[in-house]
Amino acid sequence: MKAIVLFYSYSGHTQKAAQKLARTQEADLVEIKTLKRHSKPYLFTVECMRALLGKSAAIEPIPNDLKQYDMITLAAPVWASNPAPAFNAMVKLLPKGKNVQVILVSSSGAGATKRSEPKIRKSIREQGCTVVAYKDVKQS
Ligand SMILES: Cc1cc2nc3c(=O)[nH]c(=O)nc-3n(C[C@H](O)[C@H](O)[C@H](O)COP(=O)(O)O)c2cc1C
Repeated sequence: MKAIVLFYSYSGHTQKAAQKLARTQEADLVEIKTLKRHSKPYLFTVECMRALLGKSAAIEPIPNDLKQYDMITLAAPVWASNPAPAFNAMVKLLPKGKNVQVILVSSSGAGATKRSEPKIRKSIREQGCTVVAYKDVKQS
């Protein structure tokens, strides 16, 4: 089974979790980068609101052809109880018919995206994909 882990990380915690998972799954690992790196105050005002509204961030293109993978993991930090907008950009990259694992990293861990989980699952289903695992994990 060919697996890939796509991750966005602002301050390194999601990167650590993604690296660990990629090692365990023997998966390829790709960092998603936003076109702009915003300041912390901007994150807590504008970007948190965008996260709440389910908006996407503008991201750099990735070199990998995602069609060749059986399992795609999307990992991102939690902002305002929702995935950071880069996560929503990753969802848009998903080709139809893929099994998808979601890893959301936060300072609170379990239950951090409890209220937004149905919306997140729906956005992945709407891409024609199946969520096979969904985890809210505490940053280490
Ligand atoms: C703008 C912003 C909003 C955040 N909102 C939440 C939140 O709602 N719940 C939570 O548990 N942690 C929240 N956090 C903490 C991050 O989710 C946590 O530190 C995460 O590990 C950061 O991942 P990163 O280092 O990969 O960027 C927030 C952090 C930032 C910067």
